[in-house]
Amino acid sequence: MARGEKSEMVKMSVLMIVITSSMLMTTSRSVQRARDVDSEDSEIVRRHLLANGLGVTPPMGWNSWNHFSCNINEKVIKETADALVSTGLSKLGYNYVNIDDCWAELARDQKGNLVPKKSTFPSGIKALADYVHSKGLKLGIYSDAGYTIIVSSVLRNEYTLDSNDCLVLHRYLTCSKTMPGSLGHEEQDAKTFAEWGIDYLKYDNCNTDGSRPTVRYPVMTRALMKSGRPIFHSLCEWGDMHPALWGSPLGNSWRTTIDINDSWLSMLANADMNEFYAEHARPGGWNDPDMLEVGNGGMTKDEYIVHFSIWAISKAPLLLGCDIRNMTKETMEIVANKEVIAINQDSHGVQAKKARMEGDIQIWAGPLSGYRVALLLLNRGPTRLPITAFWDDIEIPPNSIVEARDLWEHKTLKQKFVGNLTATVDSHACKLYVLKPVA
Ligand code: GLA
Repeated sequence: MARGEKSEMVKMSVLMIVITSSMLMTTSRSVQRARDVDSEDSEIVRRHLLANGLGVTPPMGWNSWNHFSCNINEKVIKETADALVSTGLSKLGYNYVNIDDCWAELARDQKGNLVPKKSTFPSGIKALADYVHSKGLKLGIYSDAGYTIIVSSVLRNEYTLDSNDCLVLHRYLTCSKTMPGSLGHEEQDAKTFAEWGIDYLKYDNCNTDGSRPTVRYPVMTRALMKSGRPIFHSLCEWGDMHPALWGSPLGNSWRTTIDINDSWLSMLANADMNEFYAEHARPGGWNDPDMLEVGNGGMTKDEYIVHFSIWAISKAPLLLGCDIRNMTKETMEIVANKEVIAINQDSHGVQAKKARMEGDIQIWAGPLSGYRVALLLLNRGPTRLPITAFWDDIEIPPNSIVEARDLWEHKTLKQKFVGNLTATVDSHACKLYVLKPVA
């Protein structure tokens, strides 16, 4: 064999070894993941585990937590449903009315069922679901993949006496520690939710038994499927173990971040973290950077516009977190922007990514149906700055002539653009365009 051929053979062998070992590594990682999910199920079953047909576009609606925290009751929920209809928001797609933590009694009933808190939900959750459904809306509820036993319960008065005068120690299970979680009760709770007519479950991650979320979450997925009712499954795992990598067979959305708060920095931190997983979002399973704060008062109008714009182009769930019954005109203008909502709900279902970053300026872009592109020019800094997006950074063919629609100004720019687009953007503000190649 000639020397040249021999060295080619050696190169090929090395290449084969590299390919084979990387395949083996990938396989062993997948096998590990598969074991975590369920050692008995076949690949096919797992792949199709969450065949509930929900979340074809990101969910839209409202959730009680960001504004009301634990201060919820059936009146607030009903009035919110009424307001979603009377403001016209439900017609724009905001149709989930989601009750967060703190809706249940501390203790389950004697059969182990969850019990709606009598002081705040006296009519029960089924009646509330009927009411919400009668408005053409859907009802969501909250539980948690955890439990913990409070050992000092007697000292802290965290106990009750049952009908036989036996001491019952409470299991504090959700994040608020005011109601039980579902770990160990998944089938029973999923059945209860289905019987009540629940349409959406946010499944949280506090007070667990230390087992991995990849072990705990599939149990609830299976329980929901067994319940026979299609229930949107929102995995609230906070990104602890990168749920974007394993969430799609188990949930319709997965939190990628810690809790948002009503501030510019928290909002941007969650947006950044969520962007990291952009490749994993798709119809049926979305990255979730947490619920909206628009209208809660902690940010300026421009900052809320940035917040809503990033959530929209990121194909994030658009779950309003303010008091819908008392929204200002300004808040309404932001969350009812039909063109921005349309980006979020676009049939293409592709999450936008950062195309370029330079200091305080960022260019985010993502493809839309009809060969269009969503473009966000973001100024995170303290001064007004010009920002330029170049076609080759945002995947538009270099010579295309492009029409630009400004979604916050509600106007199509007269000028056509070739190769790039520049706009001057205020501090802590953004410009959001839909670009359409016209030649
Ligand atoms: C966790 C979740 C929040 C909210 C609270 C309720 O912190 O991440 O979104 O549901 O629990 O206690």
